[in-house]
Amino acid sequence: MEKKKIVVAVTGGIAVYKAVTLVSRLVQDQYDVRVIMTPSATKFVTPLTFQVMSKNDVYTDTFDEKVSSEIAHIALSDWADAFVIVPATANVIGKLANGIADEMVTTTLLATQAPVFIAPAMNVDMYANRAVVRNMERLREDGYRFIEPDDGYLACGYVGKGRLAEPEHIKEVLDAHFEPSDADVPLRGKRVVVTAGPTLERIDPVRYVSNFSSGKMGFAMATAARDLGADVTLIAGPVSLETPDGVTRIDVESAADMFEAVISRFDEADLVVKSAAVADYRPAVVADQKMKKQEGDASIPLERTTDILKTLGERKKGQLLVGFAAETNDAIAYGRGKLEKKNADYIIVNDVTNPEGGFGSDTNVVTLLGKEGFEHDYPATEKEQLARLILREIVAREWSM
Ligand code: PMT
Repeated sequence: MEKKKIVVAVTGGIAVYKAVTLVSRLVQDQYDVRVIMTPSATKFVTPLTFQVMSKNDVYTDTFDEKVSSEIAHIALSDWADAFVIVPATANVIGKLANGIADEMVTTTLLATQAPVFIAPAMNVDMYANRAVVRNMERLREDGYRFIEPDDGYLACGYVGKGRLAEPEHIKEVLDAHFEPSDADVPLRGKRVVVTAGPTLERIDPVRYVSNFSSGKMGFAMATAARDLGADVTLIAGPVSLETPDGVTRIDVESAADMFEAVISRFDEADLVVKSAAVADYRPAVVADQKMKKQEGDASIPLERTTDILKTLGERKKGQLLVGFAAETNDAIAYGRGKLEKKNADYIIVNDVTNPEGGFGSDTNVVTLLGKEGFEHDYPATEKEQLARLILREIVAREWSM
């Protein structure tokens, strides 16, 4: 998943040390963190501490431009997916409520369009002060979000409300903010099995029968299913592609291996996408030793492999089955035939003679066929995006009604 970009704005209070913990936790959990500090914050903890923790430069001075081609406070305010002020003093709350920008933190905050979370920390009486309460109300009305301080022992010796929320809680609030909605991840909770690539059928220890599938279409389907929230297992024939993050990959070689890998996961699956170009035939006998050249021509007897998709179609109990059809002529008619014969729910037909699609290319041109005559054409589109469009269409038809 893409890292979320957070600017942690640190202002001058004794609770600054908790901001160090927060930055450390965020960085460990796939957030990209930049830190900005007010001059008073630097009196409690040095910028170097945050630099080490965030693994990025720390900004403390509006006039200290680290990159000559950009203006730091504008670049940071545009870069961030969210800001969090930890700890937020009564002073910074007052300045923000009144649009004052007189150092790096307030200047950057004034420029940003990103959501800003404020985690106040101060003495109990300061927190209850009418001016502070008024400023917080105004900020709430302006759309700022507060992470309430805790009740408890305060550094000044008082006991009451004003203690900075614990870093774990602040992180939970940020995690919840970035948690995708159900509409973004309609496959959340679903198990999806995707097959990809060719299969390789051995003739002897040095020769084999295979096809030109690169695996790109199947890997794109797996990535799209993951992005839609599914728990994805990718069963891949021999390809040289990187495993998409967050996807469980099982490498197989032959159609028989792929059959075993798919069948053993079928009962638990909600959706199976068969993008692999599985061999229909394999050498009837695999020689133990390299076959020697003979005088004249040679031929190799082939036998049928098991049709995995067809077997799944016969055994399915509620799983959704999506197959592909690689055709060179009469694509739609053959695709419809496969939909029927293999008892699939959808077939994605591609004419593999089309220069903008098929084997090896980065784009594909397909028609999605479904039961009761459903048909949807997709023009030449990058395989990654095409996979998202197709899965969203299937999900909308099957699971959103
Ligand atoms: O990998 P790329 O380079 O990106 O290329 C993508 C692709 C062209 C390989 C892909 O888009 C595609 O069309 N995959 C299916 C290729 C294929 O085997 O089509 P088919 O028409 O022969 O088979 C129909 C369906 O039955 C397929 O879902 C196939 O996985 C399945 N099948 C076929 C034979 C078999 N023994 N078992 C099967 O499950």
